[in-house]
Amino acid sequence: MEIPFIDLKSQYELIREQIKNSIDTVLDHGKFINGPEVNEFETNLKSYTSVKHAITCANGTDALAIALLALKVQSNDAVFVPSFTYIASAESIALVGGVPYFVDVGDDYNICPKSLEIAIDDAKKNNHNPRIVIPVDLFGKPSVCVELDELINNFDLETIYDAAQSFGSSHNQIKIGNFGDITTTSFFPAKPLGCYGDGGAIFTNNDDLAKSIRSIKNHGMGNHKYEHVNVGMNSRLDTIQAAVLNEKIKLLHNEIIKRNQIAQYYNHELNDSSLILPKLSNTNSYAWAQYTLRHVDRDKIIEFLQSKNIPSTIYYPIPLNEQDAYKSCNVVSSGLNNTEKFCKEVFSIPMSPYLKKEHQDFIISTLKSKW
Ligand SMILES: Cc1ncc(COP(=O)(O)O)c(C=O)c1O
Repeated sequence: MEIPFIDLKSQYELIREQIKNSIDTVLDHGKFINGPEVNEFETNLKSYTSVKHAITCANGTDALAIALLALKVQSNDAVFVPSFTYIASAESIALVGGVPYFVDVGDDYNICPKSLEIAIDDAKKNNHNPRIVIPVDLFGKPSVCVELDELINNFDLETIYDAAQSFGSSHNQIKIGNFGDITTTSFFPAKPLGCYGDGGAIFTNNDDLAKSIRSIKNHGMGNHKYEHVNVGMNSRLDTIQAAVLNEKIKLLHNEIIKRNQIAQYYNHELNDSSLILPKLSNTNSYAWAQYTLRHVDRDKIIEFLQSKNIPSTIYYPIPLNEQDAYKSCNVVSSGLNNTEKFCKEVFSIPMSPYLKKEHQDFIISTLKSKW
């Protein structure tokens, strides 16, 4: 039995003809950059999320860098980010010249408001300007919450939600994309909405920010192609990827429902095991980019899963502040206890809307057996 970690093939089989036709259309009209499909996809993103501005770009890493540039991050600005996330979340800060501050996460794997409050104080003591926070919706769980909102308001922080893993999720029935100053996402193939290459998008309800974002992603363009009012970059979603995404976004609503059904089944069936299950919340609906478990004997479990041909992945094995390139960055003074622990204990098991029931059952029974 071969169990895919993320099943892109079954999805492709469902929409093979539509994908081929939409790519053919692009090949025929030849507008490979800024073709009509890109505009169509931005309209689709807006109607899916109900956000006023949805602006596509080349990938989720650029999306973060563009968002920071649009907020005009300065060299003395502290930008708070969890240490337990993918490197892109922190990389973007370092790239555009802000000061990254690594903050701990809570047991839902998202930024811990208490740790953030301490880091804000640390930044002030270091004479940095505590300005921006990048909460990361890890594994597909929105990080929007009351405690975080309170801090953002009290300390007048600007917020960029890194929703690379949570596109399609919501908070109090409002789609992710509508929170904070800016939200960014990624269409990397393995994401809840993935293309067949790289892609990303930036969301905002603020007209001025939207104008800056459009300019920055397009070489800082002003009123015409050869007028440049910002230092920008070349970050476009190419037309073929937009054509693919226009087909795939039609499936997203049902796919998110299926992901939630599988996560609920995993949760229910593994409830009596010694594994630590993902924390659920009744205000947020999740996109379940990953279904992530924890156990002190993680490595032993992974080895056992491997022996049964069940794929698993560790997101993420090393705290970002321990990565060579980031070792000199600021770390919250209260420490990163959860991050350090989680890096040693987490593992993600197969999750996709197309994961067969027999495979789900085999994964569950293997995890419940004596590994
Ligand atoms: C949390 C997070 N942020 C940012 C990114 C960057 O997205 P991309 O790979 O499209 O640059 C990713 C992608 O894996 C991610 O998981």
